[in-house]
Amino acid sequence: DAVERGQYRHYMQKEIFEQPRAVADTLEARIHAHGVLPNVFGVGGDEVLATVRGLHIVACGTSYHAGLVAKYWIESHARLPVSVEVASEYRYRDVVVPPDTLFVAISQSGETADTLAALREARRRGYRGTLAVCNVPESSLVREADLKLMTRAGPEIGVASTKAFTTQLTALALLTLRLAGLNGIDADRYAALCAELMHLPRAIDDALALEPAIAELAARFVPRQHALFLGRGVHYPVALEGALKLKEISYIHAEAYPAGELKHGPLALVDESMPVVAVAPSGPLLEKLKSNLQEVRARGGELFVFADTRAGMDETPGTGALIRVDAGGDFIAPAVFTIPLQLLAYHVAVLRGTDVDQPRNLAKSVTVE
Ligand code: G6P
Repeated sequence: DAVERGQYRHYMQKEIFEQPRAVADTLEARIHAHGVLPNVFGVGGDEVLATVRGLHIVACGTSYHAGLVAKYWIESHARLPVSVEVASEYRYRDVVVPPDTLFVAISQSGETADTLAALREARRRGYRGTLAVCNVPESSLVREADLKLMTRAGPEIGVASTKAFTTQLTALALLTLRLAGLNGIDADRYAALCAELMHLPRAIDDALALEPAIAELAARFVPRQHALFLGRGVHYPVALEGALKLKEISYIHAEAYPAGELKHGPLALVDESMPVVAVAPSGPLLEKLKSNLQEVRARGGELFVFADTRAGMDETPGTGALIRVDAGGDFIAPAVFTIPLQLLAYHVAVLRGTDVDQPRNLAKSVTVE
């Protein structure tokens, strides 16, 4: 055990630091400067993808959050409609499947009971095809889907998923680019997105250097009962994943909200005892997010803002902290901003003395309904 963990105290920490390698492996021989290589989704994959007019994405837990990010990406770059749903809901819903819809199941293990059942249900529902995004090549999900894109995260031991998530985002970014390429994206824009994606391992590596700073601010969360995570747009799922990480391993009750919803409820909870974590990348929504944060500050909430180095976020946010993250570009930013939130959850849990790798009541793979 200690040998496998090497210099790291927990598997989760080791797996967080393995992300540059895992993401690079997931990109290996699948993308180059001219674009995504043909048929990386399996034989005949491009033929199917070329005819796809929409996507239904289904998953559980962290994998579901990866699917939510993909929705923003695919809609904006490939201009195809995408719906994302948790597998336990999808499988029992009377789903309407428009013609030429691709069904995508995302799962680290490929054995999650609800996700597998959803795939089996989907096969009866008449999709254009089914695609598994999965980390275990010999899993049931991979065996049963028409197309597959393997994440190459390697074995993930920590129950709280980290490198599986960022490699899922990587795989879904490849899917986004392939679909965008097949749907007439502008060539320059396509090349720029490919270059960004190829930079992701480096960008994650840079974000990992934030660990000492984050370990220090983690102490501020230790006595807390609750925390609120805010994000907007493609960073709303990043906030959801950050909140999930914190609740899974530190047992602090954490909720994520799209920042624009703050005034429709959660603002009532904000006072001096409520830390608010905000994901604040640069972009058109930043000004709106700033005014959301102003509302938190005005009510005495302790703000922890993760801001893009490129963003105009200069002032320290009241009582909390401002942490600068080099996002490496708007496209890959969700994967990069995930890193400090993983580190935050990890260090809060360590300080609270929980069983980081095996949180109470949770299982790595949920193979029963
Ligand atoms: C469990 C794990 C989570 C994981 C979820 C889905 O709840 O604790 O970390 O995200 O299952 O697992 P999957 O293997 O389908 O991605």
